[in-house]
Amino acid sequence: MTSMGFITQEKKKETRTDAIVPINFTHAHAIGQTGCGKTTSFIYPNLAYRIKNKHSILLYDFKGKEHLALKYFAHKYDRENDLIEIGKPWGMKTNLIRIMSPNTLESFVETMIGSDAKDPYWPKSATKLFINVYNVVKILEKIYTSLTINADKNSFLEVLNFDEDLEHNDFVYPNKLSFHSVLFIAQSEESLAAFVSHLSGLTQNIERFFYQCLDNQDKQYAQAALIKKYAKPIKHFMQYKKIVKTTKKRLESYAKVNGENPKISIIMNLLPLNIIANDLTLNTDECNIIDALNEGALISINSRDMSDEFTQGLNKAIFSELSKRSLLSNVQPVSIFIDEAQRIMNKDSDYHLDVLRECKVELFLAYQNAELMKDKLGELKYKALQQNLSSSFYFRNDENSQDFQTSLLQDFESFSSKNSYEKPMVFKPMFLKKETLLQAEQSYLKKQEVYKIFQLEKYEKSCIVIYDKLNFEEDKVILYSIKTDKSSLVPVTNRSHSLAVFDFAKEMYNKAQNDSIKTPNF
Ligand SMILES: Nc1ncnc2c1ncn2[C@@H]1O[C@H](COP(=O)(O)OP(=O)(O)OP(=O)(O)O)[C@@H](O)[C@H]1O
Ligand SMILES: [Mg+2]
Repeated sequence: MTSMGFITQEKKKETRTDAIVPINFTHAHAIGQTGCGKTTSFIYPNLAYRIKNKHSILLYDFKGKEHLALKYFAHKYDRENDLIEIGKPWGMKTNLIRIMSPNTLESFVETMIGSDAKDPYWPKSATKLFINVYNVVKILEKIYTSLTINADKNSFLEVLNFDEDLEHNDFVYPNKLSFHSVLFIAQSEESLAAFVSHLSGLTQNIERFFYQCLDNQDKQYAQAALIKKYAKPIKHFMQYKKIVKTTKKRLESYAKVNGENPKISIIMNLLPLNIIANDLTLNTDECNIIDALNEGALISINSRDMSDEFTQGLNKAIFSELSKRSLLSNVQPVSIFIDEAQRIMNKDSDYHLDVLRECKVELFLAYQNAELMKDKLGELKYKALQQNLSSSFYFRNDENSQDFQTSLLQDFESFSSKNSYEKPMVFKPMFLKKETLLQAEQSYLKKQEVYKIFQLEKYEKSCIVIYDKLNFEEDKVILYSIKTDKSSLVPVTNRSHSLAVFDFAKEMYNKAQNDSIKTPNF
């Protein structure tokens, strides 16, 4: 870019109507200080254009407000049914672990744990421990799901249950893969010990289980039909045996309880994963982000309450899963919008933007200045990234960039690759009216039955409901009045929560009644 020389402001400005990047998946970025027009003249027009052109969208919402624009454009182009929100209680739930291949998962866990430069042994061991437990849980789930008869499924659940073994603490092997189920085992000394010590017993029990399945059915089925029916679960059982054989030794060394043992340090390293494991919306099979993107979804991820490590790891996982589409033809175009891009990039990230292009995935990045990015990525990686972003927009910046006098630019003006940086271009901003944004949100919330679920029907016409993590933990949401512009914090009762509480109370009451009959009154 230095070859372009220092372009001075004296050249006349060129007025264009938009900063729309042609659809060729060669990626774009906008740099400029706050308020210079990145969102209104770069992100919004491109977001709208992509939605209009039936792209799938992934939008990271760091400020907690950008989802409104996505909903507004979805409404405008009649794609409301494609909207998916991740990271809110009324959004879609997703089982995050499912979108990650073992390699992707390993690197995600590493990112979440963070590498301890002085002593990488602990985080590395913690990651390995997590992956070892993951492998076993994953194959157990496969056996379970490949069983086709309900009675078999139920007996298999009994096989997984070591609850009644008096020698050990209560322990049940999970039949469902999630961060929650893996971490439940990997993060407690007791469950890890039980997990390992029962493995041999589990293998014998599963063998016996298959024996009984085949024995029970022997009379009813011809041999070929029988083999066909159990071929899949048995194949998974063979894999299970191999996995257990290779991981058992490793797990045994982790599980040895010993005061001097560094196990606790390893386990402690897994703590950052708790934030995912404890979040129901990230451990439930309702929506698979990758499948949804392959099918035309408009996804906003509420990144306001997520740590940078989490968003980085998640994004890395999404990139690497989408990169696998390179051998497929006619794939659904995906546009990814990352405003505040410095929060997602880090030194470990290798973005194979050329591969993403082949897979019809394009990136729109916006950030405030090059220094921020260089700091995050390192000089070399930043340079490589820049070279892979074919469309560039340099908006106003108090400090001139290496090549352009950006300090003299007005709002919505930028030096751009669109005219080969010949002279500053003036872009037309897209100002979205607050009322229309709020109306789009209101219609979305109604569709998700948010007012109904939280018994806020009387506010349905006048307010929108805003989610805030900390307040929601205290059973409160923010009600924002469309008419008066005022917001207030209101307590909410989730109908399904109240039902669960009611059921529990009823059960306890009945139990107490029964006990009082049995227990003599002194
Ligand atoms: N709906 C609107 N009506 C009028 N002015 C607006 C509207 N939206 C934004 N602006 C103004 O347009 C200018 C550019 O805003 P924009 O949000 O595009 O900046 P930005 O570069 O994205 O800033 P940041 O880095 O803080 O996100 C700002 O001065 C802002 O106040
Ligand atoms: Mg902005």
